[in-house]
Amino acid sequence: MSPSPIALDFNEANSSEIFAQRLPQSKDKALSPILAVVVEHLHEIIKELRPTPSDWRKVIDFLTEVGHACDERRQEWVLLSDVFGASALIEEINSRRPKGATPNTVRGPFFRADVPELPLGSTISLDGIGERLDVSGRVQDLDGHPIASAEIVTWQANAQGFYENQQPDLQPEFNLRGIFRADENGHFYYRTIKPAGYGVPDDGPVGRLLRQAGYPLRRPAHLHFMIKAPGFETITTHLYDSSDQHLGEDAIFGVKPELVREFERVSTDSAPSWRLEFTFVMARAKRGVEG
Ligand code: BEZ
Ligand code: FE
Repeated sequence: MSPSPIALDFNEANSSEIFAQRLPQSKDKALSPILAVVVEHLHEIIKELRPTPSDWRKVIDFLTEVGHACDERRQEWVLLSDVFGASALIEEINSRRPKGATPNTVRGPFFRADVPELPLGSTISLDGIGERLDVSGRVQDLDGHPIASAEIVTWQANAQGFYENQQPDLQPEFNLRGIFRADENGHFYYRTIKPAGYGVPDDGPVGRLLRQAGYPLRRPAHLHFMIKAPGFETITTHLYDSSDQHLGEDAIFGVKPELVREFERVSTDSAPSWRLEFTFVMARAKRGVEG
C-alpha cells in the first residue's frame, strides 16, 4: 500500500480534511471520529468569524482564566457548560424518559457529595435564617408503587440566593443540604427555608463575559434534588417556585413545566411559612445503568 500523500498545502478550503486524513493513524479508534468532528466545527467557526491572531489570543486568555477560576469550591467550566446550554442539551439527549417519569435537569456547580444523612423530619437550615418551608413527598415507580428507602439528596440557596459553599465564612458548613431516606411507603419529609432566586456567579470570567453581552444571568428560585434507588435511573432535577418572575428566562435552561410548583402559604401572621409537596416518579434503569 502506498503511503498517503503528504499535505503541503494546508489552506482554508482543506484545513479540517487534512487534519482528518492524519487521524486513522492514531491508536485510539473511538477518539479519531470525535476529534475529526470537533476540529471540523472549530475550523468552521474560525472561517465564519475570521478572528485575527490577537482576537484568538483573547479567546485563549479567556479559557485560561476559566481554568484558573476553578478550585475545590468552584467549577467555572461547569458554569460555562451550563450557561451555553450544553449541559441542558446533553441532559435532553441522554435522559428521554417514559411519559410520567420526573425529568432531569442540570446538576449545576454547587452540588456536594460529602453531605451527612439526616433522619426524616430534620431541618437542613442550620442557621435558621429565612421563612420556614416544609417539604414532603413520595418516591414511586411509573406504576405508582412506592420505592422504599430511595435516597433523596437535596441542596438549595439561602433566602439571599447564596449556597453554603459560596459563603464558607457566613454560612455553617452543610447549611441547606441533606440526604434523606424514604420510609417503607416511599415518603420523605424535612424542614428548610424558602430559597431566593439568584444570579449565576458573575465575579468570574464566565459571568463577566455574559454581562458584557447583556445576557440574562437570573436563576428562578428552586430546590435541587438527586433521587437514587437501586434498579432505577437516578433523577437529578430541580423544583421551581411558581411565583418567581424569572421562570421564563432561566440562565441555564433548566425550567420544565412539570417541575414548577406552587409553594403553598400555610400561615398569615407576621412569620409566614410555606409547604411544598412533590411526587418523584422513577423510571427503571436500562441494562442496569442507574447513573
Ligand atoms: C444552580 O442552580 O445551582 C446553578 C446551575 C447552573 C449554573 C449556576 C447555578
Ligand atoms: Fe441552584
